[in-house]
Amino acid sequence: MKKLSYSEVRQLFLDFMKDRGHAIVPSAPIVPEDDPTMLFVAAGMVPLVPYLMGEPHPEGSRIADSQRCLRTVDIDEVGNTTHCTAFEMLGNWSLNDYFKKEAIEMTVEFYTKNLGISIDHIYASVFGGDEKAPRDEVSISVWKEVFKAHGIDAKVGPGQRIQLYIDKCWWELDAGGPCGPCSEFFYDTGKEPCGPDCHINCDCRKFIELGNNVFMEYLKKDSTYSPLGRHNVDFGGGLERCVMLSQQKNSYFETDIYKPIFDRVGSLATTANLTSQRIVTDHIKAATWIVLDGVVPGRTERGYVLRRLIRRAVRHARQLGIEKPFTRQVGEVAITQFGTIYPQLIERKDHILQIIEEEELKFQKTLAGGLKKFESLLTQKGKLTGEDAFYLYETYGFPVEITQELLAERGVTLDIQEFESAFASHQELSRTAAKGFFKGGLADTSDMSKRYHTATHLLHEALRRVLGDGIRQKGSNINPERLRFDFSFDRRMTEDEIAEVETIVNEQIQNALPVTVTEMLTDKALELVPEAMFAEKYGDKVNVYSIGDPDKPFSREICRGPHVGNTSELGTFKITKQENVGSGVKRIKAVLS
Ligand code: SER
Repeated sequence: MKKLSYSEVRQLFLDFMKDRGHAIVPSAPIVPEDDPTMLFVAAGMVPLVPYLMGEPHPEGSRIADSQRCLRTVDIDEVGNTTHCTAFEMLGNWSLNDYFKKEAIEMTVEFYTKNLGISIDHIYASVFGGDEKAPRDEVSISVWKEVFKAHGIDAKVGPGQRIQLYIDKCWWELDAGGPCGPCSEFFYDTGKEPCGPDCHINCDCRKFIELGNNVFMEYLKKDSTYSPLGRHNVDFGGGLERCVMLSQQKNSYFETDIYKPIFDRVGSLATTANLTSQRIVTDHIKAATWIVLDGVVPGRTERGYVLRRLIRRAVRHARQLGIEKPFTRQVGEVAITQFGTIYPQLIERKDHILQIIEEEELKFQKTLAGGLKKFESLLTQKGKLTGEDAFYLYETYGFPVEITQELLAERGVTLDIQEFESAFASHQELSRTAAKGFFKGGLADTSDMSKRYHTATHLLHEALRRVLGDGIRQKGSNINPERLRFDFSFDRRMTEDEIAEVETIVNEQIQNALPVTVTEMLTDKALELVPEAMFAEKYGDKVNVYSIGDPDKPFSREICRGPHVGNTSELGTFKITKQENVGSGVKRIKAVLS
């Protein structure tokens, strides 16, 4: 394979795709635009979803880019040679243009001819078929042809050039959307197989996955698959891996992508610790990318991910003996490093460094207090319970992940469930105490609040009827001026859906339905209202409120009231606002007039 720099590999790919009719587009921000349900862009295809669904792309039907991505699922593995959170994915897309044959041929041509990887090292995986879709015969025959053109008689099966998988060769986002079978290709490092069952996706890392062609012919929605009505290709190839191979390094951190940052961290360190050095390198780089796209450290969602990255970097810097603030120096190198490709980094440099440094300093203070308490608790008790971890979190702001890590270093596992239940019961208590809520989210028991409470039950059921049973109540808050209702749902409601929900609620009001309450055993109630929240928090008996004929009511909920006696008391129902409150949760505000 040719020895190439990071920017050369990137540019060669883009040039290659341009020559084959692709419009080269810039990387979209790492924070998905217009999609608050997804925290970060985790794959190159995310910004293209509308076009994969059929919206015409202004640049045509062939698109390519190198997209900044962030994945934090493997955050605990960062620190080994090949895990990072922020990375770039080379991507080319056919939007209902070319399909399997051209896609696979292009991929092979680029990696073999332009990067000079010998075909002898290449292996491929293909979808083996299941109830969603049949075995991908077309990809099998394309791969056979490709190998044959290079004088290799490729066979299909275990240990062969072409290996079949089911789950690993089906690509979709958790949130759903365009998806389909995929075909990955791998580089054989030439290491000895780990055993007779070694295969190309084996954890022993004899084989390195270089890229993946997804053939997007299906649409996943609410766990069901239907034809998308289009044939798209989504190719994604990790840039870091490719560069690592090209530069013949054993770790991402030794390539010219990370080396300058990694060395800067090293120059500040007084103790050697490779794992911590890699973690600091990765996390500060990631933090600069995230702040660039407008996120600031916070207690929830994106802000929390950012906070966690910075805080983890701070803790690992301590492992390296770095006592003084360091994020500015390291961040500066990261910004210079990627600033030639992403000039916005340079433009916003001061802002980015300041945000990261503020969080660093804040956390230094927290950490000093928390660490002291952690050590003294541990010495005192010999072990830490989930309750202790919660105490550290609540009183010192000491992140539970850090408690976990510190304990893990001592070979102790934290009872995370105990921590979580301490956390949950505390939240419940403080919410109730702070707001003086009655159950059901009422701020008071005025007549107006009662009306809103009953309207909330009607709304909940109407939402279920319009959007599906899958929605779940996530919160409710009522005052005499309005109701507010949070529920899980993965996209914005359309105007039509909102209108339909309003109509259904208003119909129930016009039908003057009685509201009745029955006390029953909790088990029985849960049979009637299986979607009830917090089932474990109820006592033996609960009240079930029904709206309409008690045997066949419009709505039934486990609830402590209070409610009006009849829906005719409500007036006219209108939704005034729809908002996003973060990953998969929508909020509706509505009024009665
Ligand atoms: N979306 C696919 C992946 O992430 C290919 O780009 O592997």
